[in-house]
Amino acid sequence: MVCLGNICRSPLAEGILQHKANVAGLKWKIDSAGTANYHVGEMPHHLSQKVALINGIDISYQRGRQFCKEDMLEFDKIYAMDTTNYAEIKRISKDAFDENKVDLLLNELYPGKNLNVPDLWYGTEEGYHTVFALLNDACEKVISKYAGTKIK
Ligand code: 4NP
Repeated sequence: MVCLGNICRSPLAEGILQHKANVAGLKWKIDSAGTANYHVGEMPHHLSQKVALINGIDISYQRGRQFCKEDMLEFDKIYAMDTTNYAEIKRISKDAFDENKVDLLLNELYPGKNLNVPDLWYGTEEGYHTVFALLNDACEKVISKYAGTKIK
């Protein structure tokens, strides 16, 4: 799960998908990263943590890190929160970029629409709840699409 800062959106997406995978008994390793390095080593935004916890998910263990080229090789599937993140993933990955692995997360919910998960950086708590619901629906689709399959 990749966003810009790895502090608001992608930590929520990581926490939600890891939680759903665990509950489904899937041995999936979910991670998240930011395309920028502004928040490396930091905990998720306090409102991301708060809204996750209200929904029964603890994301306080996460620490910000920057997306790197090696991630393109290590992970089977990479989801960008918005189209700018997608372009940055492509730029950072250089010759390792594999377009079959990378998609916008919301294309799982609204195929082909290329919609962005709204940036919450200057948002209110209400926005975090809205984005949580959106990410929750998208992650549910990911589980139903890939559970029982080998992603390649
Ligand atoms: P995120 O949100 O990409 O969802 O983690 C942001 C976090 C930090 C900044 C922008 C967006 N920033 O400009 O520092």
